[in-house]
Amino acid sequence: MSSQIPNLTVDLGAGLVLKAPVVAASGTFGYGEEYAGVLDLNRLGAVAVKGLSLEPRSGNPEPRLIETPSGMLNAIGLANVGLDAFVSKKLPFLRRFDVKVIVNIFGGTIEEFEELAQRLSEADGVHALEVNVSCPNVKQGGISFGQFPSAVFEVVRAVRDKTHLPTMVKLSPNVTDIAEVAKAAHAGGATAVSLINTVIGMAIDVESRRPKLAAWTGGLSGPAIRPIAVRMVWEVSKAVPIPILGMGGITCGEDAVEFLLAGASAVAVGTANFMSPRATIEVLDGLIRYMERHRIQDVKQLVRAIDRGPRD
Ligand SMILES: Cc1cc2nc3c(=O)[nH]c(=O)nc-3n(C[C@H](O)[C@H](O)[C@H](O)COP(=O)(O)O)c2cc1C
Repeated sequence: MSSQIPNLTVDLGAGLVLKAPVVAASGTFGYGEEYAGVLDLNRLGAVAVKGLSLEPRSGNPEPRLIETPSGMLNAIGLANVGLDAFVSKKLPFLRRFDVKVIVNIFGGTIEEFEELAQRLSEADGVHALEVNVSCPNVKQGGISFGQFPSAVFEVVRAVRDKTHLPTMVKLSPNVTDIAEVAKAAHAGGATAVSLINTVIGMAIDVESRRPKLAAWTGGLSGPAIRPIAVRMVWEVSKAVPIPILGMGGITCGEDAVEFLLAGASAVAVGTANFMSPRATIEVLDGLIRYMERHRIQDVKQLVRAIDRGPRD
């Protein structure tokens, strides 16, 4: 006889309950509609939409996306439709599905973050905010907010003052001590953290001696960064008591389990969507098969369940 269907429900804090622990990662899944024809969005825990700014942005010049060994470098430049078009044209489509909508936001100033938070809190169909602190801080010469725990604290506190929505902070791996930044996000009122964003990288065409990306540097993602991501999830899980959405190079169920064991309560799938548009569902099905194989009834049993015992 087949075993009971495992319980896949997870709680990402402040009332953000997902029916499955797999999320589509911001920037790799458009606004959901791009994928609705190839998979059932209702099976996902949540869709994190492309990073949203107040005004529309066309992003960086081409080339802005290249393949690298076991990964991808992108310098898209946070191209997006802007707040108004998102609320009027993209949200109504997502409201047709039984899936949580996480809106990833970024701004050049704290005031922009505040306005995004306030206006999205009034919109119908937004379940949570994901604050992307990897964007340049205009008033600090363009250095990203995520570089400084104090700046992360300020942004998160400002956003929390404007919203009742669960608010996760998307942490950058391009820092010396990610646990310190996670602590600042928690102190500012974050209800969860998501990590990792892309790792800054660069590639050069040796024939032309030109950088391969028009923007010179870009964000590395995909399986190449997975061990970095797992290590950072583990460090953050020891540093803060809030739930973690883990990501970085996840392509199958076993990869997802690795993040859960390290301390994530749920996972997000990004670059794998470019390799297989059904990657989110494949990860979810792989996770279910893993749970059945190991007779695990509830996915929460896997969270931080790394075995610390002796190797033999
Ligand atoms: C093309 C592309 C665009 C992205 N855009 C965003 C974004 O707008 N906001 C954000 O917080 N993260 C963005 N990310 C980062 C991903 O959400 C994710 O954190 C990262 O790629 C690591 O996961 P992965 O290896 O599964 O892709 C983007 C990643 C890629 C590859």
